[in-house]
Amino acid sequence: MAQVATDSAMVALGELNLPNRLLLGPGPCNVDPRVLLSSAAPQLGHLDPVLLKIMEETAALLRWMFQTNNEMTLCVSGSGFSGAEAVLTNLLEEGDTILVGNVGYFSGQIAEISRRAGAHVVNLPVEWGQPMEAAQLERAFQEYPHAKIFATVIAETSTGLHQPLADLERVTHAHNALFVVDAVCGLGGIPINVDEMKIDACYSGSQKCLGALPGLAPVTLNERAVQAIQNRRKPVQSYYLDLQLLNRYWNGDHFYHHTICSNLIYGMREALRIAMEEGLEARWARHQLHGDALKAGIEALGLKIYTQPGCALPVLTAVYLPEQANELAIRQQLLSEYDIEISGGLGQLKGRLLRIGMMGYNANRKSVDTLLAALEHVLPRCGVQVTPGAALAAADKVYHSR
Ligand SMILES: Cc1ncc(COP(=O)(O)O)c(C=O)c1O
Repeated sequence: MAQVATDSAMVALGELNLPNRLLLGPGPCNVDPRVLLSSAAPQLGHLDPVLLKIMEETAALLRWMFQTNNEMTLCVSGSGFSGAEAVLTNLLEEGDTILVGNVGYFSGQIAEISRRAGAHVVNLPVEWGQPMEAAQLERAFQEYPHAKIFATVIAETSTGLHQPLADLERVTHAHNALFVVDAVCGLGGIPINVDEMKIDACYSGSQKCLGALPGLAPVTLNERAVQAIQNRRKPVQSYYLDLQLLNRYWNGDHFYHHTICSNLIYGMREALRIAMEEGLEARWARHQLHGDALKAGIEALGLKIYTQPGCALPVLTAVYLPEQANELAIRQQLLSEYDIEISGGLGQLKGRLLRIGMMGYNANRKSVDTLLAALEHVLPRCGVQVTPGAALAAADKVYHSR
């Protein structure tokens, strides 16, 4: 039988006593204190006119962040995958065909979500770490000319790949399909201009380069995508993720759909305000600079970047470990001795990669230098010999070259 805690034992638990981590994994990342402070403001009811106004402002800021005029722009209440589920389950119906540019773990999840939505999924596998070529997509459309959607990930967090989209978009639209992009990791850190890039539906997450707290998934859909939803034969199976209902709550008559967390919205609004103060171009350049400095330091440590040169993300660096390295020990020592969290490989790369994020508020020189110094100390104890001082010197060189 389960043990029931006594009242006195529960009181004795005391207050939370939390470590102060530097979150340098693939997200969540630390947020600006302004985001935390704004999230601590008094709650509002989910239909309070003041909150509805704040949501309206947040949607407008999101349109700016996505660089879109799409009316259907909102946050799904949930993490990045809730945005994926919302977009895919609203666009797909039983028997529809979706082509998936499977360039890593997260694009693989697009296939999984689509399969569960009853779609016929055509996986277009690409060797991990390398980008998908348009010719592969063209061949798939020849075989499946009635495919409704092509979907892939712009920032594949499992491999550090920055997937070029322009050619894939051209092929997709030449075959009259919808172009769907996962931007969970990229939005706010790399150039994503939804309208200019002709993305029909795009979803993201709050806790990465946007610099907000986890728990919200920004999504945006253009007229074509909205039409596809309106033309469904059957209503979308999920009430909670029904984008037409969510859009009424966010951008329409504000009818009650679900109880949104006002405090998460305050935090998202503040994170977007901070981004606007910085400016998009400056923000992308900042992520590029610190990503480059980190990579230079990593290479000076004698380690390899996993991703194909020319296609590596600035915001997420995937480091390929030599055979003798103990990946788990590296991460555990960084966490216990330095309070630094980084991540390991997923799926087929488990145990072989370190995944390091330079995202949002954390994309700065202090993060780069702190991590490189800690790695220099930890790596030799985990099977990797390093040249003392080389990493920080290499990063410094990048900082002085710009
Ligand atoms: C590219 C990508 N897509 C989707 C997700 C899923 O997001 P979440 O964990 O917030 O549900 C992640 C999370 O790391 C991601 O990096």
